[in-house]
Parts: sequence; structure tokens; C-alpha cells
Amino acid sequence: MKIAKTYLLMTLFSLWLAAPHISMAADGKTVIEQNRCAGCHEMNGGKAGTIAEVLSKKAPDLFYAGSKFQEKFLTKFLQRPNRIRPAGTVFLNYTAPGPEIDQIQEPPLCASRLSREDAVAAAQYLMTLKDPDMPTGIYKPGTEFAKANAKMIFHKSGACNACHQVDVGNGDIKGGVSAPTLYDAGDRLNGDWVLSYIKDPQHWDPKAWMPKRELPDSTWQLLTNFIMTMKKSEEMKKAEK
Ligand code: HEC
Ligand code: HEC
Repeated sequence: MKIAKTYLLMTLFSLWLAAPHISMAADGKTVIEQNRCAGCHEMNGGKAGTIAEVLSKKAPDLFYAGSKFQEKFLTKFLQRPNRIRPAGTVFLNYTAPGPEIDQIQEPPLCASRLSREDAVAAAQYLMTLKDPDMPTGIYKPGTEFAKANAKMIFHKSGACNACHQVDVGNGDIKGGVSAPTLYDAGDRLNGDWVLSYIKDPQHWDPKAWMPKRELPDSTWQLLTNFIMTMKKSEEMKKAEK
């Protein structure tokens, strides 16, 4: 009886010690758990290996969010998500044949609606989820590069615009809808991750629909520099407010 009582007191004491940590909004992992982000997002590194698994994906993987994103973007997005994939996470699930071209059915936005405080904490936690094998420090912001050449590869020989939307000038958005928009990639993504992903999309997602291509390293660097200059135009920022 006495032992049981001691245990009870000890348990209560340890709960009391732990309580401030649990209730503290600054614990991003708890915020993610309480908001059931894992109900839609893969948080633990289980890559979709079969077509059935790909088709049943509700949302993009987040287990390497710290390699992929800029923290500032995450903090903002988790409070008020915007559309990134015009035809949803798995475009096959949201397109139906139309009279002339395929029609997109309105795909869902991310369901995250965190308070500012929770978003700051969740973003900090997501930034700790990194792939240790990704080379870092390779993308150098502000490097001079042959923009006209990069543009030519993106729109012609590489046909990247067949699947990705970009700003072709003054907020004029053009491109395919089956993949994430890139017109704000420089505000959203980490340059080292962009380089790693475009060189070998299947390293990150074995069933990614983006084709792997053998191009010289200098071309991938060029494309990364180009993609990282893609930022929301002033018109777009105004329209959001
Ligand atoms: C009901 C399902 C659902 C829930 C719950 C949900 N999301 Fe999402 N999330 C989505 C979808 C769908 C997208 C893709 C939207 C798009 O591309 O336009 C998305 C996109 C994202 C992205 C961008 C990913 C990328 O690779 O582009 C992040 C980051 C994110 N969600 C974080 C969260 C966090 C953190 C939570 C919990 C607080 C959460 N989401 C809860 C459905 C969900
Ligand atoms: C056949 C369609 C297709 C083509 C062509 C294509 N991509 Fe992709 N790309 C994708 C898909 C699909 C994804 C990832 C989907 C996801 O995360 O939901 C992707 C992802 C990306 C991403 C990461 C974007 C993000 O926010 O997650 C970048 C950057 C990218 N592609 C650049 C390129 C470049 C550069 C080229 C040309 C060399 C290219 N893509 C050609 C389909 C394509």
C-alpha cells in the first residue's frame, strides 16, 4: 500500500514536471500531432512504392520538409495555405476527360490553419526533418548565370513547362498543371534541394512522375539558379492581400 502510494506521488510529480512542456505551444512536434497532419501527410519516411499507394496519397510527403523548404514559407503557409499543385496531389484523381481537353476538378487545399504561434513552432520542427545524405552548400544564391540559356532549356529542350507553371512575364502564368507550380519556387524551396530533386526525382520519391534525365551537372546548376530566381510578382502579392 505504502509502495503504491509512493508510486502514485512519484507519477503525479513527474506529470507535474512534464505538464508545462506539453501545454507549451512552442513544441512543434506536439502541434503537428494534435492537428493530425499525419492523417494526410507521410511524416515518417514511408515512401510510396506501388501505384496503388501513389494513387491513395492524400498529400505530399513531409518527412524531408527540412531539406525541401524555407522556414519562412512554412510559417506563412501553415497559417493560410495557398495552392501549389493546380491539379492536386495526384493529378489523376482530379482530372476528368472534357469535350476537348481534360478538365480539372477543384482539388483540396492543405487543411492546416494554425495560429501564428503554433505555425512558428511547427515550422521549426519541420525544419529538423532532414535527409542527411543531401549535399548542402552547393547552391550559391546570387550567382551570375546565363539566364537566356536556362530559359531555353526550361521551355524548349527540357520541356519542364509541359508539367510546371511559371511566370512568363508580368504575372502571366503559363505551363502544365500536373506538377507543382514553380512561379514562386524561390520563395518556397531550398536551392540545394531543388538541385538534388531535379537531378534525381526518384531518390526522393521512387514513383515520382517527373522523368529522370541525364544532363551535365552544369545544366542542373543552371536550371537551379533559374528556378531560384522565380518569385511571386508584385501583382500576385497584391492579389493575395
Ligand atoms: C485533410 C488533409 C490534410 C491535412 C490534415 C493537412 N494537410 Fe498539408 N496538405 C494537404 C494537401 C492536399 C496539400 C497539397 C496542396 C497543394 O499542393 O496545393 C498539402 C500541402 C502541404 C504542404 C506543402 C507540401 C509540398 O510538398 O508542397 C505542407 C508544408 C503542409 N501541407 C503541412 C501540413 C501541416 C504541418 C499540417 C498539420 C498542421 C497539414 N499540412 C495538415 C492536405 C492536408
Ligand atoms: C512529366 C511531367 C514533368 C516534367 C516534364 C518535369 N517535371 Fe518537375 N515535377 C513533376 C512532378 C510530378 C513533380 C513532383 C510532384 C509532387 O511533389 O507532388 C515535380 C517536381 C519538381 C520540382 C519540385 C517542386 C516542388 O515544389 O515540390 C522542381 C523544382 C521541378 N520538378 C523542376 C523541373 C524541371 C527543371 C524540369 C525540366 C528539366 C521538370 N521539372 C520537368 C513533373 C514533371
